[in-house]
Amino acid sequence: MSAVSTHNPSPIAVIGDGQLARMMQTAAVELGQPLRLLAGSPDSSAAQVIADITQGDYTNLDDLRRVCAGSRAVTFDHEHVPTEHLQALLADGHSVQPGPAALQHAQDKLVMRKRLREIGAPVPIFLPIESVDDARGFAEAVGGAVCLKARRGGYDGKGVWFPTPEELPDLVERLLADGVPLMAEKKVDLVRELSAMCARTPSGEVVAWPVIESVQRDGICVAAIAPAPDLPADVAARAQELATRIATELDVTGVLAVELFETRDGAGQPEISVNELAMRPHNTGHWTQDGCTTSQFEQHLRAVADMPLGSIEPTAPFTAMANTLGADEDPEMSLSDRCAEVWRRFPTAKFHWYGKGHRPGRKLGHVNITGTDAAATRRAAELAAGFIVSAVWADGYPKD
Ligand SMILES: Nc1ncnc2c1ncn2[C@@H]1O[C@H](COP(=O)(O)OP(=O)(O)O)[C@@H](O)[C@H]1O
Ligand SMILES: [Mg+2]
Repeated sequence: MSAVSTHNPSPIAVIGDGQLARMMQTAAVELGQPLRLLAGSPDSSAAQVIADITQGDYTNLDDLRRVCAGSRAVTFDHEHVPTEHLQALLADGHSVQPGPAALQHAQDKLVMRKRLREIGAPVPIFLPIESVDDARGFAEAVGGAVCLKARRGGYDGKGVWFPTPEELPDLVERLLADGVPLMAEKKVDLVRELSAMCARTPSGEVVAWPVIESVQRDGICVAAIAPAPDLPADVAARAQELATRIATELDVTGVLAVELFETRDGAGQPEISVNELAMRPHNTGHWTQDGCTTSQFEQHLRAVADMPLGSIEPTAPFTAMANTLGADEDPEMSLSDRCAEVWRRFPTAKFHWYGKGHRPGRKLGHVNITGTDAAATRRAAELAAGFIVSAVWADGYPKD
């Protein structure tokens, strides 16, 4: 008799081998749901923890077909699989979640902006940029407040520029000459950034998490606080409705993250507009691993397999997440000793490591801390991440 029960579900195929796929595996183990990974290399973040790996390239249709064979659903930890390959997988009869029609809105920021404007979602003013003249005209129209973006392939602020009107023409000329498809949008005068996340099943069930505040440094998410402190209930409800509506209108399945700008209207009241969409678990949803009844990774797997969704009830008044980004030099103190030091000071600290080697600026892991006070919880998470990175407490702890 086989050790593996014949009642086990067929695997979910996951395309992409980074930390998001790795953290799906933690949930998959608990769910008894096997994952099969398409990995670029056997020592990648996710390949280290998933037994059933197919080594291959996500731009190669044969490799994609090999990993998808016999799966109950196919999903992703990034949005870079070519649309025509996803269409071929659909034609083969695979359950691709999210499908290519939805995913294109997370692949191309111009396609996303146009579609959101169509459905009446609030977005900054934008324009496709195909020439230096387009850029000049746009800069004039928005009083010089230009945010220039690569339409495709950007992440962690790579592919986003804030040029002065003087810098703009040369920058546009250089990028266009390099073959980078561009768009411009108005540089928003933002108060802070928020994230509204939800999950949706192919059957149409949608569940939206509490709206969180995300803190960006140089285009990289460094911290998140759930729920967003002092966000008026009506604005939070509007953001959740917006995420739900986008998921439904765009037929998104699995987890959807809607990155939002919070601004002020003429009367000083909070307003929200959409920055970008991600159709997979997201950095701003990591808090759910330790602060919510159902983590984004579990919810994603349940959603793509068309299972009922779980409760999104928080398990603590506040949860703060801070990323640990590799410092210029890795401290002498071992990582395990640094974790021990943090646990002694902050017993609710939970680490999530990605199995990646040190490199300056690289996302190596994150820490979640729960608490009862928003500011203190955020401070604790930032101190903990700072200690991990440098082996020094930024506040001089312990003081005598
Ligand atoms: N129109 C804008 N106005 C002001 N800040 C912006 C604008 N667009 C992007 N940003 C800033 O740049 C960051 C990265 O932009 P985003 O489009 O989300 O790129 P990425 O794909 O790298 O995450 C945002 O989180 C925000 O801090
Ligand atoms: Mg972003």
